[in-house]
Amino acid sequence: MEKCKMNLLEIIEIIRKVYRQQQEHIPLHVPKFAGKEKEYLCDTIDSTYVSSVGPYVDKFEQMMQKITGATKAVAVVNGTCGIQVALRLVGVKPGEEVLTQALTFIATANAVHYNGAHSVFLDVDKDSMGLSPTALHRFLNEFAVKRADGVYNKESDRRIAACMPMHTFGFMCRIEEIVAICKEWGIPVVEDAAEALGSGIGLRSAGTFGDIGVVSLNGNKIVTSGGGGAVLTMDNELGNRAKHLTTTAKVPHSWEYVHDEVGYNFRMPNINAALACAQLEQLNKFLVEKANVYGEYNELFENHSIEFRRPLVGTYCNHWLMCIQLPDKETRDAFLKLSNESGVMTRPIWRLMNKLPMYLHSKADSQINAQFLEDRIVNIPSSVR
Ligand SMILES: Cc1ncc(COP(=O)(O)O)c(C=O)c1O
Repeated sequence: MEKCKMNLLEIIEIIRKVYRQQQEHIPLHVPKFAGKEKEYLCDTIDSTYVSSVGPYVDKFEQMMQKITGATKAVAVVNGTCGIQVALRLVGVKPGEEVLTQALTFIATANAVHYNGAHSVFLDVDKDSMGLSPTALHRFLNEFAVKRADGVYNKESDRRIAACMPMHTFGFMCRIEEIVAICKEWGIPVVEDAAEALGSGIGLRSAGTFGDIGVVSLNGNKIVTSGGGGAVLTMDNELGNRAKHLTTTAKVPHSWEYVHDEVGYNFRMPNINAALACAQLEQLNKFLVEKANVYGEYNELFENHSIEFRRPLVGTYCNHWLMCIQLPDKETRDAFLKLSNESGVMTRPIWRLMNKLPMYLHSKADSQINAQFLEDRIVNIPSSVR
């Protein structure tokens, strides 16, 4: 036990070394406002355009397209509603199923539920912490059947309307394999890239591999608009549909109010978009600085018995939240207590969705890797210094 405590204290020392803070409280992740944030915010106030239309919304969408390479980026009020609408756009209807992971933030599962659909929770890969193509393949081979109007789950007799992998903490999952499997079956892919702005594989950005993807600009993310998100797609038509549906489905007209379907008021306000634009201008700087923090941690953990988690080879990671893997749940809990009590903020990975009261009855596979990770993964301070 004494040896274990020594080890845990050494981790805290490493974190304090990286953040050059021997005494002060070290938060998990804080935003950095070092650019034109105040100038752009004042500009929206001076112009009176603080609400759902304005030039910063258009500028934000163009910047997101340039950064991610998406054909179309649509600004939304947060990532959760972006996912909700993305699922609807690929055809998810009440009573249908969405294949996703249980090891995720609650928004992933809730967005399925908001559409009246059911999540089917499949296991993740231990190394990527994202949806496992092996688990997906296994599930489809065992339960799926192709019918005239789509792929069905033989057991539940529900249509499998979409698959939604998630890039945990900015680490890329095996998205290319997942997309290939889904293509074979004709199942659309919605990429929950909420945490992964700036991550990718080769020249391709997270959120642009599937039919549609969503990033979040919540206050805890790599860049923030206060609250906000963007729906990304390489399909122009789907992008136009996303814009229409998230802006109350209003038929464009200078003064008439005509709406042609039940849309949503998911518009990102111009004042938030102004903040987002100033933040996006600094994204590259943040990515470089985060890579530096990652590099320092990586070096300091090199000869340590605790595993510092690294992205899959061949992918690049935005290092939004960095994490360590402790040997077991008992040590994890001891570390969480010790670090938080000593002013170094850390937090465990999420409780699996299928163990929460509202999703207890959802279908789930073995969750062997997800449970392994739930018991061991802890996020450590990862802010831009
Ligand atoms: C995996 C995941 N999905 C969805 C969301 C939802 O994003 P938002 O907070 O912008 O609604 C978040 C983040 O908060 C997230 O981490």
